[in-house]
Amino acid sequence: MKNKVLENSLQQAIKVYSNADGASLYVADKIAQIIKRKQELGDFAILGLATGSTPKGVYKELVRLHQNEGLSFQNVVTFNLDEYYPMHPVEEQSYVTFMRQNLFNHLDIPAHQIHIPDGTLSLEGIQAYCDLYEQKIKDFGGLDMQLLGIGRSGHIGFNEPGSLKDSMTRLVNLNDITREDASDDFGGKDRVPTQAITMGIQTIMQAKQIFLLALSERKAAIIQQALRGEISAEVPATFLQQLEHVEYILDQKAASLL
Ligand code: GLP
Repeated sequence: MKNKVLENSLQQAIKVYSNADGASLYVADKIAQIIKRKQELGDFAILGLATGSTPKGVYKELVRLHQNEGLSFQNVVTFNLDEYYPMHPVEEQSYVTFMRQNLFNHLDIPAHQIHIPDGTLSLEGIQAYCDLYEQKIKDFGGLDMQLLGIGRSGHIGFNEPGSLKDSMTRLVNLNDITREDASDDFGGKDRVPTQAITMGIQTIMQAKQIFLLALSERKAAIIQQALRGEISAEVPATFLQQLEHVEYILDQKAASLL
């Protein structure tokens, strides 16, 4: 039996929209508000960003706000959650390509303010690189916002089952379900990389605000486990239940088993 106070605050953290567009517009508006608030203060807005099909609608709306409503991204600094390893940035499946196509190519964000884990490093150089990634986030004062999707394995970023709550940016092995889900992008599961570099659970949990977006019935079962299941490394997204500053933004289909 869960603690009632926790239950109530979790309930308040869940927002269900009738469709994916409503959910995406809500998140994009929240991000725009952070950017504008920081502009008024003369500060950078430090955004943690995600890839996958889920955040595409959010990015589309942010591009619209820039192109049609003059929202500037010049004060925005971004840190992406993850990247496959090994992966060259120019490859079609790289998260660098994804971010350029869906967001960065359409904004006025200075290139040097964009950070995405480097999938081209030699194995020996990875840990020092990951430590530096963490340090850079800290040097900017931490993430103002982290946008998350969720994998059907329960992963956030690429923190697969077994990831610890105090994990930081590091090289990880990808789970079978995750590689299966990526197989279309790569033209077969055996072509999906077996590893990735990802921010850790702790890196994510330290963000000042977290938006977990889940859309479609494909996510209904894992959303039920992530929000209602026991907190455990077996479903890494359950660690978020311990936080006050998380919002779960769902469409009706993803929320259908709650
Ligand atoms: C990948 C990403 C995750 C993302 C997940 C879900 O594994 N590393 O950050 O949340 O896919 O993808 P989709 O949104 O396409 O369902």
